[in-house]
Amino acid sequence: MNNHYPFELVPLPYAYDALEPYIDAETMALHHDKHLRTYVDNLNTVLSGCPPLQDMTLEELVACSDRLPDQIREKVKNNAGGVYNHNLYFSLMSPASKLPQSGNLYDAIIRCFGSFDEFKKRLLATALARFGSGYAWLATFANGRLTVVSTANQDVVTAAGLCPILLVDVWEHAYYLRYQNRRAEYLENWFQVINWPAAQLNYYNCFCRRL
Ligand SMILES: [Fe+2]
Repeated sequence: MNNHYPFELVPLPYAYDALEPYIDAETMALHHDKHLRTYVDNLNTVLSGCPPLQDMTLEELVACSDRLPDQIREKVKNNAGGVYNHNLYFSLMSPASKLPQSGNLYDAIIRCFGSFDEFKKRLLATALARFGSGYAWLATFANGRLTVVSTANQDVVTAAGLCPILLVDVWEHAYYLRYQNRRAEYLENWFQVINWPAAQLNYYNCFCRRL
């Protein structure tokens, strides 16, 4: 699958209803097939008029979007960010979720937050507090220390020099059909379907890139 223009819609790695009853099939179908597809299509439309950007990877586009010319900066930032964030979000959920009890990421979480429960509390509180649309993240600083942060709209944590490990989408389209305004309930249920092996792999890759 291309990681440059023209970008393609990355298929869901599980069935639409695989995350029931935590995340419903209708939400997953709309979120993936309509919302993510729109970001992919809009990104390709912008890039179709910018040949110098057509060989860039998604990661390169989100990294350099702030330095692009005025007429395309916001379009590339919003749509490349939308594709990047959603690809991560969908890859970080699984119907076979099992809370970690060991491993490098688990150990780092305990070191940083004191307990797994405290980490969960911090992440969900940060996601709940995000005003409007955006994401909450578990990410690492360059020195490997973990942090929980939130970003607005389709901003990415890499713009702040952080390496992403886990994120949750708190745009209303991610939960409104099932949960209406009950974002906290959506967050509790999302926590039940986290793909911890994928988060562990992201943690590993954050360090490998710096070795
Ligand atoms: Fe979304």
